[in-house]
Amino acid sequence: MRTAGPVGSGVLDAVTTRTFGTTIDRNPPRAFQLTDDLIPGKRTMSAPNKNYDPVAVTALSAAEVDRALADALAAIGAAATLDELKEARLAHDGDRAPLRLARAEIGALPPEAKAEAGRRVGAAMAAVRDAIGERQRQLERDRDEQVLVTERVDVTLPFDRTPAGARHPVTMTADRLADVFVAMGYEVAEGPEAEAEWYNFDALNIPPDHPAREMQDTLFVARPDGEPGPSGMVLRTHTSPVQIRSLLTRPLPLYVVSPGKVYRNEALDATHLPVFYQIEGLAVDEGLTMADLRGAIQAFVDALFGAGLRTRLRPDYFPFTEPSGDVSMECHVCRGESVKPGADPCRTCRSMGWIEIAGCGMVNPRVLVACGIDPDRYSGFAFGLGIERALMLAHGVNEIRDTVDGDVRFSRAFGMEI
Ligand code: FA5
Repeated sequence: MRTAGPVGSGVLDAVTTRTFGTTIDRNPPRAFQLTDDLIPGKRTMSAPNKNYDPVAVTALSAAEVDRALADALAAIGAAATLDELKEARLAHDGDRAPLRLARAEIGALPPEAKAEAGRRVGAAMAAVRDAIGERQRQLERDRDEQVLVTERVDVTLPFDRTPAGARHPVTMTADRLADVFVAMGYEVAEGPEAEAEWYNFDALNIPPDHPAREMQDTLFVARPDGEPGPSGMVLRTHTSPVQIRSLLTRPLPLYVVSPGKVYRNEALDATHLPVFYQIEGLAVDEGLTMADLRGAIQAFVDALFGAGLRTRLRPDYFPFTEPSGDVSMECHVCRGESVKPGADPCRTCRSMGWIEIAGCGMVNPRVLVACGIDPDRYSGFAFGLGIERALMLAHGVNEIRDTVDGDVRFSRAFGMEI
């Protein structure tokens, strides 16, 4: 193989001869003395400079590489966002990054120095890339977690801003009481709130001169023609007229309950409302006695306050029942304990041990007659209680006004039954 060289043809010929295995002229002319310098592969002129010190390339010095690596790791660690990390990556792993520039210097080193410098710079660059990758994953995790928090969609919220309504606690109490009796076989009966005086008073044996019929107790409905004088209509003062409507329209035997709104010409105070709810119960059958009345009353006390409270009947007077009584139940808060000497006072029953909850009695035979029923064959019992007062007792409400104020915070405490 001939290679061009700076030397004369005699040298080249001698080399060529040796290369092709022919006899080498071991005595070349003196002027063409073969030296190592002149043999390709042995020449020292273009060979690496063995005296070259790689440390002299500043960018490749161990200290400089370590510093560049430390700077890179610090910048990567300090990157608080993905954008900052991108900047750190460009600065420390981009084209103009110190380690990249240092790597570019490696080519200028002698081979034995190249390997060491290459390893050093390569290891540093790998460490930088690992750190970038790790930080990238960490920041992406942080970002995803942040997104989950800030872009959280609460699927439990209502889809619009109108909150769902719920039944009023008074309605819930009325329904619960009615349910107790429906479960015992009673039917639910209804009557109008603007009621004929005959149903509200006369048929119930309330005489024309009874104080309940006075203007100061009853709200009378004006005549529809606007003329002065009685219309014969009132806003019903109790649910008892439903007794009459039921007796006139339903077959016997008869078991009905009737929850509903009633009106009285009364001032509003902590325990009285001019408009409130009652629930009426009426049973007419053959052979009913006060024992049946007591059983029915015990059933609704158990339903409202839980089983175990005693009830008692005391004599009272209502024109439409005979005998009449008021129903009291044992105080559900102190259970009668506050009556005992030295006991703590009880606000709920005012330390009486008993709480009045309803009026009741055996249906007056006059009422049965007014409705065309034979009182010798049939007997009955009836009771009526105020639903707001029952609710107040059951839930420790001190102000009856809370039931009509319309403050949703009051209603919410009773749950959101629809
Ligand atoms: C009556 O209304 C009778 N009709 C009850 C009755 C029915 C007796 C059947 C016999 C047979 P009284 O006026 O006492 O009774 O009212 C009954 C209940 O309504 C009371 O116990 C009380 O709980 C409630 N109540 C009465 N007045 C008010 C008022 N102004 N505000 C709130 N609740 C009232």
